[in-house]
Amino acid sequence: MNDITRSKILGSGRYVPERILTNADLEKIVDTTDEWILERSGIRERHIVEPGTPLSHLAAEASRIAIQDAGLKSEDIDVIILATVTGDMKFPATACFIQRLIGADNAAAFDVSAACSGFLYALQLADSLIRTGTYRHALVVGGEILTSMVNWEDRNTCVLFGDGAGAVVLGPSTDEAGILSTFLGSDGTYSDLLYNPGCGCINPPTVENVSEKLHTLRMEGREVFRHAVVAMSRAMKEALKRADLAVKDLDLVISHQANLRIIEALGKRLSLTEAQTYVNVDRYGNTSAASIPIAFDEARRDGRIGPGSLVGLVTFGAGFTWAGGVIRL
Ligand code: UT7
Repeated sequence: MNDITRSKILGSGRYVPERILTNADLEKIVDTTDEWILERSGIRERHIVEPGTPLSHLAAEASRIAIQDAGLKSEDIDVIILATVTGDMKFPATACFIQRLIGADNAAAFDVSAACSGFLYALQLADSLIRTGTYRHALVVGGEILTSMVNWEDRNTCVLFGDGAGAVVLGPSTDEAGILSTFLGSDGTYSDLLYNPGCGCINPPTVENVSEKLHTLRMEGREVFRHAVVAMSRAMKEALKRADLAVKDLDLVISHQANLRIIEALGKRLSLTEAQTYVNVDRYGNTSAASIPIAFDEARRDGRIGPGSLVGLVTFGAGFTWAGGVIRL
């Protein structure tokens, strides 16, 4: 009989490339200023890969750290779920490359696509798989090399993104710690506000399509901003309701790091204190699916959260998709 009532995070890890691109560097590439970027987004710098770096390499680094942190070996991992929209190739799943790199020979491996919300989508899936007794140990990774999809001539978007990966290992909980709730939402009617038109079957890569930069990311920033604040505040409230908790119970809220002004607007809507708010967008930019696991690992290792902490997770991304969750460490 399966008597697992919840899963918990056994370990976490993160990895970002060494190379840093500052706002001053961007001033040399597009018509922008450090002042504009900082004022409108809160971003000072972002980590970026050398062109051609596989996402699987970043993700494998973060995964090794998370598995070691969990006190496990790669062979103990039963399933690898990678959230990304910038995998190594269109197929096979980049999770399979991670599996090979870390030697997780006993794991099933697949990718999840929900853009910036991807990590929480993958987390809910992994949590369900563990609670049903299907798997014992799940490696959940959020990784992105968005600089591979950015149009470096579009100042509206190219200043916002960074590269990186974060990972957690989930296993059955035998104590109070665990994933207390998750909540996912989507609305495909807004799919044309943040998307990558090329590379899929509608616009396969042709010389014409590439010269029109269809393979790069498009975003209506102001509209995305507006929806992000509303959807994230609703998602956090719904996740709290499902866990029978209130905002005041949370020690920290880790929200998707896309823009400091979005984080502040969300904080206002939820009446979060400064101590409850986590910010690292200034150092990483928007790393999409990697944003929450990178921030989670950083907050843990910096001592902002520890055993017993109640943590809210909330995100928003292309689709539109959004998600919330509450975990006890
Ligand atoms: O991860 C998924 C979720 N993504 C997000 O949450 C992103 C959401 N959106 C945003 O973060 C913000 O909308 C942006 C940071 C993208 C833009 O900030 P904004 O305050 O909404 O600016 P805007 O797009 O309304 O542009 C204002 C002005 C425009 O000039 P005009 O038309 O007023 O003359 C832009 O052309 O700023 C101009 N602008 C820039 N100027 C200097 C846009 N980008 C730049 C730039 N440097 N990099």
